[in-house]
Amino acid sequence: MELSGSILQTNDIIRTFGSGKKAVHALRGINMNIQKNSLIILKGRSGSGKTTLMNVLGGLDQPTEGTVTFLEQDLSQLSQREIDEFRKKHVSFIFQAFALLPMLSAYENVEYGLRVSEIPSEEWEKRVKEALDSVGLTKRAKHRPSELSGGEQQRVAIARAIAKRPSLIFADEPTAELDSKRTFQIMRLFRSLVDKQNMTIILTTHDPSVLHMADHIFELEDGMLLDSEVALHV
Ligand SMILES: Nc1ncnc2c1ncn2[C@@H]1O[C@H](COP(=O)(O)OP(=O)(O)OP(=O)(O)O)[C@@H](O)[C@H]1O
Ligand SMILES: [Mg+2]
Repeated sequence: MELSGSILQTNDIIRTFGSGKKAVHALRGINMNIQKNSLIILKGRSGSGKTTLMNVLGGLDQPTEGTVTFLEQDLSQLSQREIDEFRKKHVSFIFQAFALLPMLSAYENVEYGLRVSEIPSEEWEKRVKEALDSVGLTKRAKHRPSELSGGEQQRVAIARAIAKRPSLIFADEPTAELDSKRTFQIMRLFRSLVDKQNMTIILTTHDPSVLHMADHIFELEDGMLLDSEVALHV
């Protein structure tokens, strides 16, 4: 993959849920162009459309109108099966609810992510250990989600996403459960994945203290983007 240029572009994305009087206009004409190798923050009030936008950008949901172009591929031209394949190859999601499997330990949850992404099994142990270590959870590897705190579960979800080494990570409030010290550590980890491993990371947050670590901030209001800000990260 080339290191510069656009990874993701949208053209007038509209996403409407339902119809008639009950229609919810969650996205109302989104145009964005995201550069490879950047850390992007999506901010905006609750209900402004952040999760909806990430789902559409990552091919989990289809726009009502408009197109998403991902690595020069117009997703609307692909079948659902092709989109799923594309996502499996290039994308990790860290969901707002962590979506961990309750019967599996932290280690097994991360490993499971590699299995479903069809990463060769020889790679699993090294990648799982490295990912758990990078989020500070080596000592909790054998615990199941119910035996972990909310912040620890969140970090398992982060480890699972990064172990796959995707081109693009979508992270929906990945630090919501973390204290300020852990938040900063995770943001530093994201920053280094972008700077050293050429990933692109798009995350949502309500935490103003992390905004300075982004390359670019997009603000959503009622399903529309306000003028975006260029941030200078440190
Ligand atoms: N499946 C759905 N059906 C109907 N309305 C929906 C659906 N999903 C989201 N919405 C609505 O779309 C709007 C945007 O929701 P979204 O979840 O994208 O907001 P958000 O910015 O992620 O909020 P939060 O910060 O609370 O996570 C909201 O008004 C929400 O109620
Ligand atoms: Mg949300």
